[in-house]
Amino acid sequence: MESSGPDFNFIHLDTVNSTNSYLIDLLSKTSPTDGFCVFSDFQTEGRGQYGRIWQSYPAVNILASFAYRTSWLEEKQVFCLNQISALAVLGVLQDYLPGEDIVIKWPNDILCNRKKIAGILIQNIFRGSQMQWSVVGIGLNVNQTDFDPSLIATSMRQVAGLNFDRMLLLRALHDRLNHLMALKSGDRNFDLLDDYNASLFGHGQKVLLEKTGGIRFEAVLLGVDESGNLRMNVDGHFQSMDWSMVRIILPAG
Ligand code: BTN
Repeated sequence: MESSGPDFNFIHLDTVNSTNSYLIDLLSKTSPTDGFCVFSDFQTEGRGQYGRIWQSYPAVNILASFAYRTSWLEEKQVFCLNQISALAVLGVLQDYLPGEDIVIKWPNDILCNRKKIAGILIQNIFRGSQMQWSVVGIGLNVNQTDFDPSLIATSMRQVAGLNFDRMLLLRALHDRLNHLMALKSGDRNFDLLDDYNASLFGHGQKVLLEKTGGIRFEAVLLGVDESGNLRMNVDGHFQSMDWSMVRIILPAG
């Protein structure tokens, strides 16, 4: 089903393999307006970061991908898309769940009360070395009532004890994404990193991390730099690592 409002065009599907994959395929054939969205009630092959799968019960959560023209962006600045997406989701959740502890877990998970409530998968489409489109895929746990305990996940429903209107949330997400994307594309020096770091899980604290290969260690997080590298103090020594080298481990319970 295709729907549109004055400024919001989207396709609402019952089921799809992955909204990101569907939108990437669509972008090879058509040129939609900025912010065009593919929303689905269910995904058979929902994709997550690090090649993981993204699971969701049918018709209770937000599974959506948004297309943005990003030819204005140089590849080295690509981390600003993580900042925009994470801050958009964070802002919506802060509006809907006031008073809750909502933070960004680097590089772009959103935690509510130390459990994962949303994940973001950004995929960029290039023509040669030039960015053309970016697809921002967002999985937001809205009305799901239970999760596999190993996932350390939660939903808006679990936090607030009530059901939320997914369409209102989708529009709120779209509005915030559009707003931040317009600010950044209008002025590439517009700073979002301070806001990102201000809401960073573990900022200034000791957290547990795991290197690719499985070695775990503790470090005090110092923040994230413009390129998206995590800056940290490990036993008194400064280190900076990118997201392919290390991930933050959430303590269970
Ligand atoms: C992660 O935390 O690993 C990222 C999860 C991103 C999931 C969303 S759901 C909508 C979009 N389509 C996908 O296949 N993945 C993203």
